[in-house]
Amino acid sequence: MELDGLDKSRLPQHVAIIMDGNGRWATQRHKHRIEGHRRGKTSVRVIVEMSRKIGIRYLSLYAFSTENWFRPDDEVEALMGLLEHYLVAEQAKMMRYGIRLLTVGDRNRLPAGVRRTLESVIATTAKNQRMTVVLALSYSGRDDIVRMARNLAQQVKTGQCRPEAIDEQWISSQLDTAGVPDPDLLIRTSGEMRISNFFLWQIAYSELYVTPTLWPEFREKEYLQALLDYQRRRRRFGRTDEQLAQNPIAMMEAGGPKS
Ligand code: FPP
Repeated sequence: MELDGLDKSRLPQHVAIIMDGNGRWATQRHKHRIEGHRRGKTSVRVIVEMSRKIGIRYLSLYAFSTENWFRPDDEVEALMGLLEHYLVAEQAKMMRYGIRLLTVGDRNRLPAGVRRTLESVIATTAKNQRMTVVLALSYSGRDDIVRMARNLAQQVKTGQCRPEAIDEQWISSQLDTAGVPDPDLLIRTSGEMRISNFFLWQIAYSELYVTPTLWPEFREKEYLQALLDYQRRRRRFGRTDEQLAQNPIAMMEAGGPKS
């Protein structure tokens, strides 16, 4: 794939994607929704592969939200099957290319077989360092925050944590995404202008990119467009243009607005 115009020195470190539109893709073609998810799985493979080739360090994919449990049983079952199949099929490639798998979300709600496969791939790939793929499964941003708050209350109660010690970094370290930098770029396919309970805390300063392309059709060309669009943005983290012009490196090294 021709990467014309992409500046390799200004890539987003972390790209997060809300993969939407599988159902619509299928319905438009008079196919079953599950066919849309199957095509969506191919897009997942293509986007992981391209991210690896370009050098994106973290890729997060919103694969199954806590709300998705309310879908018809056969659709939930098909999605779990596709996920398991993907993991089994891609594990060797993850090892070959140094890709680590992580998940965010409430893994306990997943079927036992899927959980076992996930845990095995997570353990096998744990030491890989070139790239991290984060699958959001049975995940929602609010649920992440609720679980963090419960944990926090417990730690304060038992004296493990002093209220004064709680700052933004501390909270980040207690969310499912602990250790993963905040997304620089959040992509949503299929045109909806919503966050849909994906990363809430983590996207405070992410650049947003929404494309009308449905997820099963989001492939190399569309991904490249999103990355090029990102590189045209001017990230100021709440500062003025003048401040940025005076010390752009320090601003980037500070990782955004925290300093
Ligand atoms: C949204 O489309 C997509 C999902 C709920 C699931 C995403 C799952 C995959 C891409 C397949 C397998 C995943 C992995 C990680 C291999 P939608 O059904 O909500 O679309 P609609 O809004 O058009 O109905």
